[in-house]
Amino acid sequence: MTQAPSSVRSRPGMPPEAPATLSAVRHRAADGAVTGGCALVTGASSGIGAAVARRLAAQGGWRLVLNGRDRARREEVAHGTSAVVYPADLSGPGAERRLAEFALDSVGRVDLLVAGAGIGWAGPFSTMPQPAIDEVFDVNVLATVHLVRLLLPHMVRQGSGRIVIIGSLAGTVGVRDEAVYSAAKAALATFADAVRYELRGTGVGISHVVPGVVDTPFFDRRGVPYRRSRPKPVPASRVADAVWEAVARGRDEVYVPGWTRVPGRVRGVAPALYRRLAARFG
Ligand SMILES: NC(=O)c1ccc[n+]([C@@H]2O[C@H](COP(=O)([O-])OP(=O)(O)OC[C@H]3O[C@@H](n4cnc5c(N)ncnc54)[C@H](OP(=O)(O)O)[C@@H]3O)[C@@H](O)[C@H]2O)c1
Repeated sequence: MTQAPSSVRSRPGMPPEAPATLSAVRHRAADGAVTGGCALVTGASSGIGAAVARRLAAQGGWRLVLNGRDRARREEVAHGTSAVVYPADLSGPGAERRLAEFALDSVGRVDLLVAGAGIGWAGPFSTMPQPAIDEVFDVNVLATVHLVRLLLPHMVRQGSGRIVIIGSLAGTVGVRDEAVYSAAKAALATFADAVRYELRGTGVGISHVVPGVVDTPFFDRRGVPYRRSRPKPVPASRVADAVWEAVARGRDEVYVPGWTRVPGRVRGVAPALYRRLAARFG
């Protein structure tokens, strides 16, 4: 259920012009790289999103709007920073609009959106309950696509900004017992690629950050532990570093760790060989 914060002010839509509120805003608009300004981070109450929020706060020059459902963990991440928090459940109807409006109302502009909220589900697809299918798509795909739709025109009007979508290796190759999660993350990868064409020349960029396996509560929450021997889990701070690289250098796609781009390449070049190897080792 969506909880509305007391400080939300209602507004009919996005402002026609986004005023700059931070003197510290520094942009390299030509390639959509940004090095400071106002950032909205979803999934900021845990794991990768929390690490990204901490990375941006440590970097300096950022005003943060943090979203997540868990109040205690969200406020722990925001503690000691000037971040404002918004407790939307992104699976609820209209939550993305309320979050986007809150961000624009409270900090005046959005230079960076890091779409980190996400959930998994693991098990044979033929046993997956329909509400779980819907939730995986609602949180991972629809909430992200809706937020991008709401904030992109604002960034294009500004002439600068960056969107970072947290994908997954599962979306690059498709993982056994993660059919719907893999499909959801593949949708985000293709979405980022397609939107990137439209952004050429606008000063706004979109990055797809692709973690392999990350040591976060993600696996506990989905109720099935990570059991493979590889890829080995990396700390969330490493993904946060990759997000920063994507933001500050305007990178289109970053894999974490870098070698995890190889399976997708093998699949592209030699799909039959890839399937044989995946059937044996996957
Ligand atoms: N961990 C991995 O191995 C791994 C690998 C590849 C990609 N990823 C992706 O990385 C992203 C972050 O995952 P993580 O590993 O950091 O997992 P996590 O520690 O479980 O964090 C997930 C975050 O998403 C938020 N979230 C979940 N459902 C939500 C909802 N309905 N509304 C609003 N927020 C919601 C959670 O908020 P609350 O805590 O407040 O509920 C939390 O902040 C996800 O997109 C995930 O698919 C993770």
